[in-house]
Amino acid sequence: MIVFEDVYFSYGTRSVLKGLTFKVKESERVAILGGSGEGKTTILKLIVGLLKPDSGRILIDGEDITLKEEDELMDIRKKFSIVFQDGALFDSLNVKENVAFCLREYTKMSEEEIEQKVRELLRIVGIEEAIYYMPDELSGGMHRRVAIARSLAVTKPKMFLYDEATTGLDPINAENICQLINELSKDGTGHIIVTHKLVDALRVAERFIFLKDGRIVFDGNIVELKESQYPDLVIFKKELQYVI
Ligand SMILES: Nc1ncnc2c1ncn2[C@@H]1O[C@H](COP(=O)(O)OP(=O)(O)OP(=O)(O)O)[C@@H](O)[C@H]1O
Ligand SMILES: [Mg+2]
Repeated sequence: MIVFEDVYFSYGTRSVLKGLTFKVKESERVAILGGSGEGKTTILKLIVGLLKPDSGRILIDGEDITLKEEDELMDIRKKFSIVFQDGALFDSLNVKENVAFCLREYTKMSEEEIEQKVRELLRIVGIEEAIYYMPDELSGGMHRRVAIARSLAVTKPKMFLYDEATTGLDPINAENICQLINELSKDGTGHIIVTHKLVDALRVAERFIFLKDGRIVFDGNIVELKESQYPDLVIFKKELQYVI
């Protein structure tokens, strides 16, 4: 369970989050939506302790991570598989080496075990054939898949966190990535996807949280979303008529 209690956060004098309170259960499939610069990526970084709030508390499975030191945070991070928006691959390494990177870093696997594990992960994300491709030979969709495989390499997460997993992809690739996200959560593992595309959020989420000016202005399911009269949701809801 992720709990935010009245969380405030600013970068220097720039106030980004102004009193966020919400709870997300491990098995939930949630989309956090909002315009560019609203603080979506910041929220994911706070969840895994890469940033600390100015005030308020963040609890992960009942533990207050705002009080934890860097070495204690490693155990928290292992609960999550996180694919960052700028989750760039290492340009000079092929797909295999990109996915194997954390395995080499954090485990004592043999070369053979690493190869096996990398192939297994690439199979899960559907691009085993690209194992020896270099990053510049990958399409945008393949690139995302490799980033997802890499995030899965070290641990089986209790929850997936995706930052703009479909942004910049053509509609077909975006839909494929959404399918993959749903596939990975089929066993009941939940996910939080951060996006500004409601169409993609609708494909993978059952709960929608909208951010505006550092605050949550909507938190509810699809029925509540359709009924909401909040003006800033109107632009998002225009998309709804095409997908539902
Ligand atoms: N390291 C940083 N230093 C200073 N300001 C930052 C930093 N990172 C983000 N910001 C600012 O904080 C605000 C929130 O950033 P954040 O990346 O969380 O937004 P976002 O909702 O993820 O946006 P996008 O949809 O464009 O990815 C933005 O105005 C951004 O300019
Ligand atoms: Mg972002």
